[in-house]
Amino acid sequence: MKSINVAVVGFGNVGRAFVKTLALKRKTLSEKYGININVVAIADSKGMVIKPSGLDDYEMLKLCEVPKSGIHMFGSYAKQGVDIAEIYDKAAPNIHVELTPANYATGEPGYTNIVFALKRGAHVVTANKAPLVLYYREIVEEARIRRLMIKFRATVMGGTPFLEMLSSMKSHDIEKVEGILNATTNYILTEMHENLLDFEQALRKAQALGIAEADPSLDIEGFDAAAKLVIISYVIGKPINISSIYRESVAQISLKDVLDAVKQGHVIKYVAALDAQKMVASVKIEKVPRDNVFAQINGTLNGVRIKSDATELFFIGRGGGRIETAHTVLDDVIEVALRGSA
Ligand code: HSE
Repeated sequence: MKSINVAVVGFGNVGRAFVKTLALKRKTLSEKYGININVVAIADSKGMVIKPSGLDDYEMLKLCEVPKSGIHMFGSYAKQGVDIAEIYDKAAPNIHVELTPANYATGEPGYTNIVFALKRGAHVVTANKAPLVLYYREIVEEARIRRLMIKFRATVMGGTPFLEMLSSMKSHDIEKVEGILNATTNYILTEMHENLLDFEQALRKAQALGIAEADPSLDIEGFDAAAKLVIISYVIGKPINISSIYRESVAQISLKDVLDAVKQGHVIKYVAALDAQKMVASVKIEKVPRDNVFAQINGTLNGVRIKSDATELFFIGRGGGRIETAHTVLDDVIEVALRGSA
């Protein structure tokens, strides 16, 4: 049996769903794959829990019920304040799971945490897009020189292993990647179309589902989808800068716009597109004919078309969603546990 120690940094919607999923599945995982995944530390924005011998399933489930930013109140293993170095000094995790919220101004605290973890010899799994969008080359290089793995498949189509498929298309010349990459705004537009909610009502429902970013303007202003295009661009080896991506705000869409479009046989969609030949990218509001495949991608689903010199593929699957994203993060952790050298 191979034992792997995991530190979880960031304990919001996805962090909690990850810890809960792991608590419920790790017995099965150890039977299926011969790996024992221990959570030795969890940090939220205000405190940490460190237990070098690993939290038991009951403790993990109880921790998921603690109020947000409240794990410093969790009994004898808990303390106030976050000090990532202390986690590494006391519990020496093999895998660092970085689930802090995206901050596109600085990439922090994710970037510093990821680099710190790599420098201390831990493989990294992250769902935080911002450090990759701002420092992809630095992070990948830091991992490469240390022969460590950096896995981030939850950053794009969080509930669907899309990035793995895309990165496996190594012989292809990818010409275009376009689609619905943001679950929150797709859900909002679907609620406006199907239930005639206004924008604010639909946004509140999306937030209640836990799919919106901690700062929902990142979804609404197209930043989240643009960030995903940047990560896609790195994966296909044609990097673009986020500042070069043209973005429209979905907040300008009114219920009247939605109904007017429907009368003309259209559906309003928020489409992210990367033209890898012209090296231009955009996140735009588009009126899509009702029989177009993008018009069928509703709710929290994402859908992406990949056009290469050899073929055209279409992926449909969950984008956001705490449980789905948590499973994708866990898939990365399992893969690192099975393949990584730690
Ligand atoms: N806020 C993001 C979305 C979460 O709505 O798609 C998944 O990246």
